[in-house]
Amino acid sequence: MIGTRMEAPLRQLFDFKIGAAVNPTTISSQEELIAYHFNSITAENEMKFASVHPEEELYTFEAADQLAEFARKHDMALRGHTLVWHNQTTEWLFQDNHGQPVSKALLLERLRSHIHTVVGRYKNDIYAWDVVNEVIEDTGAELLRSSKWLEIAGPEFISKAFEFAHEADPNALLFYNDYNESHPQKRDKIYTLVKSLLVQGVPIHGIGLQAHWNLFDPGLDDIRAAIEKYASLGLKLQLTELDMSVFRFDDRRTDLVEPTPGMLEQQAERYEAVFRMLQEYSDVITSVTFWGAADDYTWLDDFPVNRRKNWPMLFDEHHQPKAAYERIARLVRS
Ligand code: GLA
Repeated sequence: MIGTRMEAPLRQLFDFKIGAAVNPTTISSQEELIAYHFNSITAENEMKFASVHPEEELYTFEAADQLAEFARKHDMALRGHTLVWHNQTTEWLFQDNHGQPVSKALLLERLRSHIHTVVGRYKNDIYAWDVVNEVIEDTGAELLRSSKWLEIAGPEFISKAFEFAHEADPNALLFYNDYNESHPQKRDKIYTLVKSLLVQGVPIHGIGLQAHWNLFDPGLDDIRAAIEKYASLGLKLQLTELDMSVFRFDDRRTDLVEPTPGMLEQQAERYEAVFRMLQEYSDVITSVTFWGAADDYTWLDDFPVNRRKNWPMLFDEHHQPKAAYERIARLVRS
């Protein structure tokens, strides 16, 4: 698409892919911006369990198909997100006809069937899947988060998910994906889990660092340490859900109608420092996906403070480049 943009397309600046999370609304409202700057997309919600498989006998692929069609139209890569998660998964999966918990065998059989159907459908479109999302417990000594998956199937649901995905599409790159991935304690647990999968011979090819970051956290040293530790497993890394909230996570202020100049400057410095580092590791980092494209639409407008506007992206509410974009682009030219 020929637009009127003067700035350099982000997708041409780095060795890794540059992605955006999209949905059926934004592929239209942000089409020009996304087509110009990005060469990869991820479905924000439309490929999650509850979206594509609301009832045992019913698959609903309309929205996901639209996104796959958008990727084809613009010759973009498509990431699949996500096959196993404790959220946005329907209750029927874990229950029998009488509302009783299903057996481990039935749960794994349902998982196999789901994965074969979904991964099989997008075999020619999706090159990489977030197979398992967020199974690590954030704090304390437990490795795995408690969930219906763990309760019914024990830890084996994790390796099984990767095996089923690999059966369904042997060419797809398979990722473990999680947030707070740069916090040392969680980083070490993610490392432990993935290493144990590798030791068992499970087909896993990469780690997804969600990278829901803010102006203050995580520290650059922690990000670097996480990249190095994960890379030491010999896997590829992708940033899968990058955004840079202007608020500290526990900041509940609601008084702003626009970002302060100080915030935008700090955001520009942070993005510049982060991309400088990502570039250093471009032998292991193969893709950087933002969780959105521009500040007119971001899930952070509702999280963690309901209906509070946030401005986490490189492009503003009118899809124009922010200072953060300029700094990243300058980084490459210098
Ligand atoms: C997690 C999930 C994403 C998305 C975000 C919030 O990071 O992996 O799919 O739901 O939360 O939008």
